[in-house]
Amino acid sequence: MTATGFKDPSLSRSLTLFRAFLHEQRDPESCYALLARDAADQVEAYGKVAGKVVVDVGGGSGHFTREFRARGAQGILFEPDTRELGPSPPHATVVADGYLLPLADASADVTFSSNVLEHVADRDTFLSELARVTRPGGLIYVSFTNWLSPWGGHEWAPWHYLGAARAQARYRRRTGRAPKHTLGENLFAHHIGPTLRHVRARDDVTLVSARSRYWPFLHQAVARVPGVREFATWNLLLILRRCAP
Ligand SMILES: C[S@@+](CC[C@H](N)C(=O)[O-])C[C@H]1O[C@@H](n2cnc3c(N)ncnc32)[C@H](O)[C@@H]1O
Repeated sequence: MTATGFKDPSLSRSLTLFRAFLHEQRDPESCYALLARDAADQVEAYGKVAGKVVVDVGGGSGHFTREFRARGAQGILFEPDTRELGPSPPHATVVADGYLLPLADASADVTFSSNVLEHVADRDTFLSELARVTRPGGLIYVSFTNWLSPWGGHEWAPWHYLGAARAQARYRRRTGRAPKHTLGENLFAHHIGPTLRHVRARDDVTLVSARSRYWPFLHQAVARVPGVREFATWNLLLILRRCAP
């Protein structure tokens, strides 16, 4: 039985996650705690994390790191933005950029990155750094919201389909606030097809699985269909295995 008690994929799991997202503003703690348990379950489908070094890159306030620690891992949070850390990040959190992690080669058993790739300009260098710090045979979990996903524009979605500038201007007009994300500054238009081609061409990792992170069914099939996958996947989850050098 997983920590959430959910089968992945399943309709009940997806509905529960969706409901939690709907209440994210009102109850962020419960939402992120559930998401963290769910993601940790996804990692543990490939092996228990107890006793393992689990590196959480761009982990925000640390909900995933806390969950990995609760499961007996040595979880380490690396987050470059101190505002994202919030008032009480996990102890021994490291303020560091995912492009240049202060870790020796091959020091992590599991390298975990949830919803960070769309916030980095240089996807390939970011992935190289995740691979560098992962030991041969270790697991790399990378999920991201691709640009043409209905949530691709984040707080100004789905208006990003009409262009980022228009969507950002609309958000400003409607809310009176500057959007958190600006395309080309802290949000980047990464697509599923080119990302999969890039990952398959790498010689430092093998692709174990490419799937929709949240879909209740056809979660692998949807990520295989060129064109359709850019809209229908919502959030791509890549499970990679570090190759021997
Ligand atoms: C949408 S939040 C995701 C937070 C958390 N991983 C989650 O899934 O809830 C994106 C995170 O990526 C971080 N980030 C942006 N650029 C980064 C980089 N170059 N290296 C590491 N983290 C980065 C941000 O500071 C932010 O915490």
